[in-house]
Amino acid sequence: MTSFWSFWTSIIILGSIFGCLWLLYIVRKSEPHKEETDQTVGHEFDGIEELDNPMPSWWIIMFVASAIWGLAYALAYPTLGNYQGFLGWSSTGQWEDEVAQAEERYGPIFDQYAATPVTELAQDAEAMKVGQRLFANNCAVCHGSAGRGALGFPNLTDDDWLYGGDPETIRTTLLQGRNGNMPAKGLKPDMSNDDVNDLTHYLLSFSGRTDDQEAAKRGAEMYQTACAACHGADAKGMQAAGAPNLTDNIWLYGGSPAKIKQTLLYGRAGHMPAQEQALGEQKVHILTAYVLSLSQQ
Ligand code: HEC
Ligand code: HEC
Repeated sequence: MTSFWSFWTSIIILGSIFGCLWLLYIVRKSEPHKEETDQTVGHEFDGIEELDNPMPSWWIIMFVASAIWGLAYALAYPTLGNYQGFLGWSSTGQWEDEVAQAEERYGPIFDQYAATPVTELAQDAEAMKVGQRLFANNCAVCHGSAGRGALGFPNLTDDDWLYGGDPETIRTTLLQGRNGNMPAKGLKPDMSNDDVNDLTHYLLSFSGRTDDQEAAKRGAEMYQTACAACHGADAKGMQAAGAPNLTDNIWLYGGSPAKIKQTLLYGRAGHMPAQEQALGEQKVHILTAYVLSLSQQ
């Protein structure tokens, strides 16, 4: 805050408090009676009359007390512009204290987990409760609270992996993130719509869902030039490229003819955010075990 705004807001705050006290003082001073009376203010409505009495003392005491409270608070805590308050409290400071307390409390547990191999940790019910909480807070938005995924977000509970389901690969996925890259029309950008149609029939044929065997056959030929480099000659996928198995009827982006065509025409680019900075090694270690345990259920 610039010193002008700091000064301005302080004036408004102090002005309001002292203004209210001043108002109270004037009203008290101009009251005609200092004692309780039977005299009315002189008007009546529906048989109700207002007595011309002074303000009750309990009310005045409360009023002055809250003004004093307001002043004391403004001096103790950051209230008046850039003035930090004599207690030295700040929201960042409070947050840092809480983080430090949590580190002290959970640090030893996390250290112990970090020293346990992932496969062993995946069997540890207590550790997996911690893993579940970490997953709910950091991963569930995309992968679902049960890790079953959604369109474009892989299911982590099955045994079908884009990049691989061994502990080391899962760890790398979490630490560094992943960027899937399925180029539109594969390696043949000049591919015609008929070719895309043939390829779709070819992919549908793996799950016995095409009745146009001729088209599927033409698609199989096109596949070898435009797609095999990433998805493999047998279309069973290639984890090094993050290219999914196209024969198992498990679909990341949907397996209807329309969805498959959309994938082929426009490409796909799934993004898994890196967690190294956000969560750190220790939490990633626990989450690796948790992902492993999901796929083993
Ligand atoms: C912003 C959404 C998002 C968040 C948050 C997210 N993921 Fe992912 N994750 C993805 C996407 C999208 C992919 C697929 C990447 C691709 O298509 O190449 C993925 C891929 C993965 C994979 C690889 C799966 C495979 O088949 O190889 C794992 C494991 C994974 N995520 C675990 C996690 C964990 C654990 C967390 C929490 C720390 C997390 N993800 C947070 C979107 C997300
Ligand atoms: C450069 C490597 C590369 C080439 C070439 C390529 N793909 Fe892909 N493909 C991928 C990757 C990587 C993904 C996963 C994208 C993601 O995770 O977002 C993918 C995803 C797909 C999907 C979605 C699968 C699902 O589960 O929903 C289909 C279908 C597909 N590719 C078919 C093809 C076909 C057919 C060709 C040839 C025309 C082809 N791909 C060429 C790398 C490639």
